[in-house]
Amino acid sequence: MDKGSVKLAPSILAADFAHLGEQVAEAERGGADRIHVDIMDGHFVPNITMGAPIVQSLRRVTDLQLEIHMMISDPDFFLDQFVAAGTNSFLIHWEGNNNLHRTVQRIRSLRKQVGVAINPATPAFVLEEILPDVDQVLVMTVNPGFGHQHFIHSTLPKIRRVSEMIEQVKPECELEVDGGIDEETAPLTVAAGANVLVAGSSIFGAEIGVCAAMHRLHGAITGAPASEKWATIS
Ligand code: DX5
Ligand code: ZN
Repeated sequence: MDKGSVKLAPSILAADFAHLGEQVAEAERGGADRIHVDIMDGHFVPNITMGAPIVQSLRRVTDLQLEIHMMISDPDFFLDQFVAAGTNSFLIHWEGNNNLHRTVQRIRSLRKQVGVAINPATPAFVLEEILPDVDQVLVMTVNPGFGHQHFIHSTLPKIRRVSEMIEQVKPECELEVDGGIDEETAPLTVAAGANVLVAGSSIFGAEIGVCAAMHRLHGAITGAPASEKWATIS
């Protein structure tokens, strides 16, 4: 895989919400491919975050793709309002969805991109039947619900298995990873086949600043040393 083509999707969960527009603009200057927005309802995961109004506000300040990670019990119920707010793509979980194929087709009918997410304990083989219908697979590398958790290393063989499945069934499908991604873990996931990396605290929580953190993470993947210029910007 061409490491230069790996895409970075900063997750605003770790951002300073009092300065969200500026933080997203910085991520964009740092080379973000898309903005990852984590939606939690306190049922599917034991945490609550934000809803469609945040997406609507983001839509006004960036042209980047807004990728909505639905960690909610009834994603179908909220699809329309997130589309109206300016969503480009949805990541929906395999877990807890009794009619995943229907949800995927519904998102397709709304002309949005769709990905299926699987939790650390969920095996790769559950993707077999749905893979031809999706644009992305998201392998969770932490248990969903919180930022700033430790990367679960036992997910690496699964990333490899999903990568092989994608290669055989739908090579254009993206393989995304989410949770605990930083300069140390990012290269491991790319070596296993990931080509889109979600990163929250290693970007928006970085002391060196958002833009410099983007360059540092990109450097860790490509092997290019982070330039001094970026290392000093805060
Ligand atoms: C966790 C979310 C992640 C989270 C990642 O449930 O899906 O997107 O923001 O945060 P970090 O990168 O801090 O692990
Ligand atoms: Zn996420």
